Amino acid sequence: MKPPIRIGIVGMGGFAGWHHNTVAKLEERGEARLICTCDPAAATFAAQQADWKFNARGVSVFPDYRTMLAACGSQLDLLVVPTPIQLHAEMHRAGVELGLPVYLEKPPTLDYLELEEMIVRDRSARKSSFVGFNFIIEKPRLALKERILAGEFGAVRSATLIALWPRPADYFRRNSWAGRLMMDGRVVLDSCFGNANAHFVHNLLFWTGGPELYSWAQPAAVRAELYRAHAIEGADTFFVEADTTTGVNLRFALSHTGTGAGTHAETVLCDKATLKYIVGQHAEIRWHDGRT
Ligand SMILES: NC(=O)c1ccc[n+]([C@@H]2O[C@H](COP(=O)([O-])OP(=O)(O)OC[C@H]3O[C@@H](n4cnc5c(N)ncnc54)[C@H](O)[C@@H]3O)[C@@H](O)[C@H]2O)c1
Repeated sequence: MKPPIRIGIVGMGGFAGWHHNTVAKLEERGEARLICTCDPAAATFAAQQADWKFNARGVSVFPDYRTMLAACGSQLDLLVVPTPIQLHAEMHRAGVELGLPVYLEKPPTLDYLELEEMIVRDRSARKSSFVGFNFIIEKPRLALKERILAGEFGAVRSATLIALWPRPADYFRRNSWAGRLMMDGRVVLDSCFGNANAHFVHNLLFWTGGPELYSWAQPAAVRAELYRAHAIEGADTFFVEADTTTGVNLRFALSHTGTGAGTHAETVLCDKATLKYIVGQHAEIRWHDGRT
């Protein structure tokens, strides 16, 4: 049996809590071991720390990630970074400098210059990091993409994404960076397009990318209209049209406005069929000769 993967998680609240739950389950199966964690507000997570049985599991808790890595970095196999977007680059860098692969929450950053630097840094890293765009590994998605690449549906002409995810005002008050454009001189650009629904945006690029399975379309030109209904710095409603370098047309409509249940759908228009994919629910092939 393989030794458990030794993990450090940066952060405890928000989505970091889900990472803690998952690692605790993997630990019960002997597949992982949480060595250390940190949070500037660690004391406010006392109840969670008791639930996660940190004392019994021997987990070390630190107030910040630099102290944590200085004390425990050499004992780790993986660093998990589910923290505010604008902190990802420096935390990824700290992991790379220690030779650790980083599980970086999406989006890696929304500052494109910073992204270029992160990619260059990762290329020379001892171990590659990865970004948690977790819908890419869905088996039905991978099978359908193989069929697209094999040419079964004819050439891909266009793809659309509708992702409506109504969010109340509280959503933007849950932390200091939600809905922000800049903070402390750093680019945040938090939005339904760049963050909350970034999975689906990424999925659309995946459907239309080739020739390898794990390839993503490259936008050549982008036109967009952005709107705001919530009292936030950024936008909460996006209409985006893009042409890819291979001539595929992409159209996106995303919003955090409205009320009620959300909805999302990824659609890929090919010469012989239209494919509709709804994460976790539904995959449909509608042939243009009438078959479904
Ligand atoms: N994959 C998904 O489905 C999914 C879902 C939700 C959020 N996310 C991503 O997770 C990341 C975090 O989002 P969130 O809404 O949980 O953010 P958040 O602001 O709630 O932060 C998460 C935790 O990081 C801690 N933190 C903040 N600064 C820190 C620092 N300097 N050092 C250590 N810890 C620090 C916060 O105290 C908090 O406990 C974002 O990138 C977000 O896009 C992914």
